[in-house]
Amino acid sequence: MEKELGSFDHLVERLRDEMRYEFSRTGPPNDFPAFHDVPSKRYTSSEFYDLEQEYLWNKVWIVAGRVEDLPDKGSYFLFDDLGLPLLLVRGQDQIIRCFSNTCRHRGAPIVREPIGKVKRLRCQYHAWTYSTEDGQLLSVTDERDFVGLCKEDRALPEIQCEVWGGWIWINLDPDAQPLVKFLGSVTNELEQFKAENLRLKGTDHRIINCNWKAAVDAFLEVYHLKFIHKSGNLPELDNAGAALGLLPNGNSRMVSPFSKSSATTMGMKSWEDFKIFPSGGGLEAIPTVHPVFHGTRYSFTIFPNLVIPLSATGFPILLFFPIDINHTHLRIFHYGLENENEDQEWEKRIAAFGKIIDEDVENLAPIQKSMASSLYPGMPLNYQERRIWYMHETIDKTIGIERIPEDHRIEQLLASYVEPS
Ligand code: FES
Ligand SMILES: [Fe+2]
Repeated sequence: MEKELGSFDHLVERLRDEMRYEFSRTGPPNDFPAFHDVPSKRYTSSEFYDLEQEYLWNKVWIVAGRVEDLPDKGSYFLFDDLGLPLLLVRGQDQIIRCFSNTCRHRGAPIVREPIGKVKRLRCQYHAWTYSTEDGQLLSVTDERDFVGLCKEDRALPEIQCEVWGGWIWINLDPDAQPLVKFLGSVTNELEQFKAENLRLKGTDHRIINCNWKAAVDAFLEVYHLKFIHKSGNLPELDNAGAALGLLPNGNSRMVSPFSKSSATTMGMKSWEDFKIFPSGGGLEAIPTVHPVFHGTRYSFTIFPNLVIPLSATGFPILLFFPIDINHTHLRIFHYGLENENEDQEWEKRIAAFGKIIDEDVENLAPIQKSMASSLYPGMPLNYQERRIWYMHETIDKTIGIERIPEDHRIEQLLASYVEPS
């Protein structure tokens, strides 16, 4: 533990240096590449959308729920945000697994209630029954009437499923790299939040009239912060000092210092005087987190659809799911310490965060319209917006660059800026 904290201190020193550098620079670093415009058709073409459906969403780790949503043997919940019906279930052996919720007989949903508890997975239509431990088809009603049916061939497909931080993650790709390897150093940095001990404080969601990438783009930079976010009530950040880290596998980090006036109001000598505030906004701070999480806004984007804006007193996670080319479902889950006395404060916090989200969302439907306009062929990105470029680069790499029509592609430019894992 000592050693881990030591290495995190080391990272904090590096981040502090990076923020100092960001404040002092007069332009991007000398060798920083020029970006071509990101083609707007990436947000509007059905060809690109279909490629994403086939080669992106089938290959990535996605948060499907929380361990505490499956408290007992046989507890299950349904998950269909990836566009196909899935079921997460805790087996009699306590292991959490993910199966297709499509019966191998006539394709009915095996279970229809979104959450529940079962001993076996018994299809509600004609009662074919499957095991919750391996998806094997255990029994077929009137089996004598099926000619040549082999039960061994009709198990429920099992989807890769792992647990980290109390979240249940799934991946439709049977050959996906292990979750912890994919998350890399993110796990070391998030570790201190002991996320597995945090509890859900409330949820929120939005249906946004834009392509999912336009929605995620809005959370990858702080260049826009002081212009559209007026709801106040949060410390002001200084985007000029933000340290952006590109991490392996399309993940990224953004650490934004407080503005001078916010730092002063909070009793910090300067933006870099990180210290622990035992509580904030009426909420007790998580005792194990480093002062840097108190004295900055530190956030991660986990490729492709998860944004985690951390805070020492608890935090939301934002999940973006495509509904179709022009519509995105944003799901928000807030997590904090288990403390019933704070329910009212959480209510206020969640409402305040919802207002910020509304400010972001307000732009997105018109942006989507612009993406379809013949007068707007593409978007020029700056150095501060490089996390957006990196996400798009990783989308292309995941799909397979050669599969993408040339006029939709993003040049692969940022590999040398990615931090080693
Ligand atoms: S569809 Fe499931 S048993 Fe017939
Ligand atoms: Fe924003």
